[in-house]
Amino acid sequence: MRVLVSGGAGYIGPHTVLALLAAGHEAVIVDDLSNSKASVLNRLESLSGQHIPMHSIDLTDRDKTDQIFAETAFDAVIHFAGFKAVGESVEKPLEYYENNLDSTLSIVRAMRRHDVTKLVFSSSATVYGPRAPLPYSEEWWPLEATNPYGWTKVMNEQVLRDVAPTIPGLKVALLRYFNPIGSHPSGQIGEDPNGIPNNLLPFIAQVAVGRREKLMIFGDDYDTPDGTCLRDYIHVEDLALGHLAALEHLDSMKEPVRAFNLGTGQGVSVFEVLRAFEKAVGRALPYEVAPRRAGDLAESYADPTRAEQELGWKATKSIDDMCADAWRWQRENPMGYPAG
Ligand code: NAD
Ligand code: UD1
Repeated sequence: MRVLVSGGAGYIGPHTVLALLAAGHEAVIVDDLSNSKASVLNRLESLSGQHIPMHSIDLTDRDKTDQIFAETAFDAVIHFAGFKAVGESVEKPLEYYENNLDSTLSIVRAMRRHDVTKLVFSSSATVYGPRAPLPYSEEWWPLEATNPYGWTKVMNEQVLRDVAPTIPGLKVALLRYFNPIGSHPSGQIGEDPNGIPNNLLPFIAQVAVGRREKLMIFGDDYDTPDGTCLRDYIHVEDLALGHLAALEHLDSMKEPVRAFNLGTGQGVSVFEVLRAFEKAVGRALPYEVAPRRAGDLAESYADPTRAEQELGWKATKSIDDMCADAWRWQRENPMGYPAG
């Protein structure tokens, strides 16, 4: 298949591009580089030994998006592009709704016009909201969110559930990611956040490499085994393979739209992640327990059964693998990708 990978220059996209190429598919990246650097492309081409076309356009621009579909015949789209910072989405809700909804609308419009009938969409565990019982099951309804970023995922899912049945042949997989961490085992491709990282792993990695003084652990008084929050961390390489499995499954899907959790099913605490990262680095890392972060849930983990049964996909990498790979990337690229 020739696959348009929107947001393919970011964190998860490049890992998925490599998985696609390794499986014999072709990938074309479309990314406006609003949260990524062009130099990722050199890394991807040298790791894969293949030329990877990239178009730097803003996917909210319908005409430019349509132009890309007019120039190249695609079999499928994997739609990663979007803004993803929860705190920023509270400060700039209009920008988040515009970017995350308009990009999907212009992609789906172009897919309809150019008869592209396979779509894999990046959703998130955040759509389960604060009331869903654990472990999170795809059967849960109604979906809800607690911040504008989360609502863009709930709304995008709804748009796709409404639109897909009206476009003959269109099949959509909604992939609800849990907490993707880690990096490509080469140490060449990884997560390169702008500014102060919001998420746990990039923050610990920057403490380890000396860019930050210490980790602040947001609360150790939760009703969990060690008092810190539990999350379902999933290696980004497993996540990439989940996209491949979903893409290859779309043709055999009976309904136009189906959601799949991509997680391990295991809750891991903040202290457990810190210990696993310290093991990878080979020394203790400084931390301090701080007050709880507003909006955090004590626990979040998937029921991964549906993806295993229907996609034939299961996460295989451990938290030690995730931390060892994240550390290799951070150690070899302390300031992330080269500029440019
Ligand atoms: P990322 O920010 O690293 O990658 C997204 C890419 O999209 C960036 O390279 C950015 O430049 C590009 N982009 C944004 N708006 C665009 C636009 N209008 N036109 C063209 N390109 C645009 O994010 P990521 O971590 O790789 O996440 C990918 C997707 O998965 C996102 O939709 C995100 O919300 C979702 N997701 C991520 C996580 C996570 O923890 N990383 C968890 C759940 C869901
Ligand atoms: C965050 C987002 C969520 C998004 C998810 C995956 C919030 C409120 N939620 O969730 O919408 O889908 O990322 O990208 O931002 N922690 C610390 N110190 C830190 C950073 C984090 O102790 O410096 C703790 C957090 O309190 C949490 C755990 O580590 O318990 C994981 O945090 P994070 O990586 O931000 O992920 P989520 O909380 O799952």
